[in-house]
Amino acid sequence: MLARYVEIGLAVREAFRKPELRDAFIGRLKPHRRLIAGCVPAGIQQHGMLPERAPAHGLAEISDADLAQWLVDDGRLIYGEFTQQELDNYFEAIAPWLPLHGHFIDLGSGLGKVVLSAALALPGMRCTGVELLGYRNDMAQVRLAQMLAAGVADDPAAAARVAARVRLLHQDMFATDVSDASMVYIYSTCFAPMMDRLAEKLASELPEGALVTTVTFPMQHPAFELVKQFAPPSVAWTTVFLYRRRSALDAAAPPAASFLYEQDSAAWEYAVRAAFAAYDSSLGT
Ligand SMILES: C[S@@+](CC[C@H](N)C(=O)[O-])C[C@H]1O[C@@H](n2cnc3c(N)ncnc32)[C@H](O)[C@@H]1O
Repeated sequence: MLARYVEIGLAVREAFRKPELRDAFIGRLKPHRRLIAGCVPAGIQQHGMLPERAPAHGLAEISDADLAQWLVDDGRLIYGEFTQQELDNYFEAIAPWLPLHGHFIDLGSGLGKVVLSAALALPGMRCTGVELLGYRNDMAQVRLAQMLAAGVADDPAAAARVAARVRLLHQDMFATDVSDASMVYIYSTCFAPMMDRLAEKLASELPEGALVTTVTFPMQHPAFELVKQFAPPSVAWTTVFLYRRRSALDAAAPPAASFLYEQDSAAWEYAVRAAFAAYDSSLGT
């Protein structure tokens, strides 16, 4: 998946950078602008994850469906996490609803901050992280090892108990079995195009009573009841939702809910042309 992401991304970035390809860039991306978080896809910007090399293909060779999927992937790979204070607020805020035992899963666990914080805050729960990008999961493993090493120096038996409860998996959340989860956490701020698919997956797998947290975007699915909505800044900079899986009988087919915001076409193009100009001036041209 990553190799494909990089190949298409290089073609999109070339069309952004080369003046003679910019009309094509606008023409191809404009119909899909609702999939872009912001105006210019994150991956082709200076802080993006793409390597500095020429593309093997031009944008014209990329199909529309592949381009749309690339924009979804580009959005969902954007990194973000709560501050430690926000996470402390979160675990305190949801404490009244949390079971004492069970399985906490972070879907899209990144560098592991939530999983490691959960392992400390929820001593009765197994805590699992699921991350698509190997390098992020590797970094999470390093952080876990550092946390455990610090714990071993202090209290080896307690550190061993934490180690036995934590797992960091390198895999696609859509291929992950969550049927024994009692709590699922999703930092979904950049997952707008995937919210319906995620809700469907969770509705079909989670046991009755399981809790789900989403961030920024709600889950509009009849299998879930909203338990609590934490408006900013009570817990964090953005809205935090807490849901509970209703009984299986209530899991009727959901109405399609769209969380995608489509920017006005002219406003989007204006912003993209401004980004072209900013890129050129960063090169001194
Ligand atoms: C916004 S970050 C949140 C990281 C972590 N949950 C936290 O709050 O600190 C979202 C993470 O989800 C990962 N991700 C995106 N799509 C995924 C997928 N299909 N399966 C697993 N992880 C995914 C991204 O690579 C990214 O690291």
